[in-house]
Amino acid sequence: MSQSFDVIIIGAGPGGYVCALRAAQLGMSVACVESRATLGGTCLNVGCIPSKALLQSSENYSATVHAWKDHGIIVEGVRVDLARMQARKAEVVSANVKGVEFLFAKNKVTWLKGTGRILAAGRVDVGGTEYSAKHIVIATGSESVPLSGVAVDQARIVDSTGGLELSAVPGHLVVIGGGYIGLELGSVWKRLGAKVTVVEFLDRIVPGMDAEVGKTFQRVLAKQGMTFRLSTKVTSARADAEGVTLTLEPAKGGAAETLRADLVLVAIGRRPVTTGLGLESVGVTLDQRGRVATDAHYATNVPGIYAIGDVIAGPMLAHKAQDEGAALAEILAGQAGHVNYGVIPGVVYTWPEVASIGETEEALKERGIAYAVGKFPFTANGRARAMGATDGFVKILADKATDRILGAHIIGPDAGTLIAELATAMEFGASAEDVARICHAHPSLSEAVKEAALAVEGRALHI
Ligand code: FAD
Ligand code: NAI
Repeated sequence: MSQSFDVIIIGAGPGGYVCALRAAQLGMSVACVESRATLGGTCLNVGCIPSKALLQSSENYSATVHAWKDHGIIVEGVRVDLARMQARKAEVVSANVKGVEFLFAKNKVTWLKGTGRILAAGRVDVGGTEYSAKHIVIATGSESVPLSGVAVDQARIVDSTGGLELSAVPGHLVVIGGGYIGLELGSVWKRLGAKVTVVEFLDRIVPGMDAEVGKTFQRVLAKQGMTFRLSTKVTSARADAEGVTLTLEPAKGGAAETLRADLVLVAIGRRPVTTGLGLESVGVTLDQRGRVATDAHYATNVPGIYAIGDVIAGPMLAHKAQDEGAALAEILAGQAGHVNYGVIPGVVYTWPEVASIGETEEALKERGIAYAVGKFPFTANGRARAMGATDGFVKILADKATDRILGAHIIGPDAGTLIAELATAMEFGASAEDVARICHAHPSLSEAVKEAALAVEGRALHI
């Protein structure tokens, strides 16, 4: 007889492993299938964690070379030991993935090592052994979208995984795609000494984010030395022994030109992983974009089969996947698990950071919602001045009639942490006035949030 569980989860990324832990906390017997040699999925192995390790290291280097002089700190002979930087990154990853293994053991989650395939509702095959479960959860995540004419060889032409593993700083790095990955990894290699050109198909970078923030972001990155080729597409890339020749064309048609690079990073988005899972034979429906279609409770069209994380609709973010994992476990336990999709922060971990939550101005305009804007620049924040980090601003969008906060966008130092206050406010249905009346410590960056909230009614005090 096959070994039986209450829940079998396929994929141990942030969605799958959190679902497993929460289900175990709620008293279910849980197995999690993972084909990778370590737990933690894309995020811990080749995504969020290694990229943030390199962003931190490269920022430390960049600050030492460029910023400390201004503070009266003279450091001479600074150089990069890339092998050590990469080794440190591997140590950070290792500690995190082992942490998940420890949590599995602590919560008695069984790790089924291998590739999972659904045979039918209630039945999963892992490497020729069949297991049964009341509930099956698909948490297989996502992978890089390939670009036609640009074959990734992980040597001269890399995707994000290759882009995290470089053993030398490239002379000229061409990044295809001005989104999260392109700008984060572009920043890493720029800070370490590469010339970086970002080729973006649209007429702006970070297209999902507030346009004003996007514009300022591009200006700040350009000031740091990044070059942008907007409204441009790459139609081919030919690697040779010395580098890569790219063919570029205007996005809307026109004369082609060539661009020479030492290395090319393809970062034009990610797509759900659904192949080899047996979904077709079981009859699980996909949506038009190839994602597993679910209802509001993460149920697919096949009873007993659920899906969460990057493989379903919504932003491809680790915290979204984690919250869905926890919510689904609660639903399976008969509780009321829920994710508020209107309040999911997105953060680009560059310097300065860019953070966004809720509605953008463009979305509000499109939906005909009357809103008021409160904006406050970091140039007027005492702490930012003391830090020497005055690029950017906080922007709060509030409903014109009710003053309820509808969205918030921050570009500036520690924006990813600052946005959490506005996430909390939005979860509690706060108005801009509510945030403005909260006592914020002085001198702190968070005062810029208070001032932006005051600015919604035109009464910021320090500008
Ligand atoms: P994944 O993390 O992709 O995990 C899915 C797992 O399922 C994988 O380990 C895979 O091996 C396994 N799997 C797939 N099929 C099978 C099968 N048939 N059998 C067994 N196992 C299988 N998000 C953020 O929020 N913040 C960030 O800073 C951030 N940085 C990123 C940086 C990079 C370079 C990349 C690429 C992504 C980043 N992301 C970030 C996105 C984040 O990694 C994903 O949103 C998140 O990992 C999705 O979690 P998931 O559990 O849905 O899937
Ligand atoms: P992305 O969707 O963020 O950006 C892709 C960019 O490529 C877009 O600006 C798009 O217009 C552009 N593009 C698409 N096709 C193109 C083409 N043919 N030529 C030129 N440009 C083209 O995708 P990215 O950067 O690959 O990241 C994937 C996802 O991973 C992100 O959307 C995000 O969900 C997640 N991620 C999150 C991070 C974070 O939270 N800090 C960091 C890294 C990734």
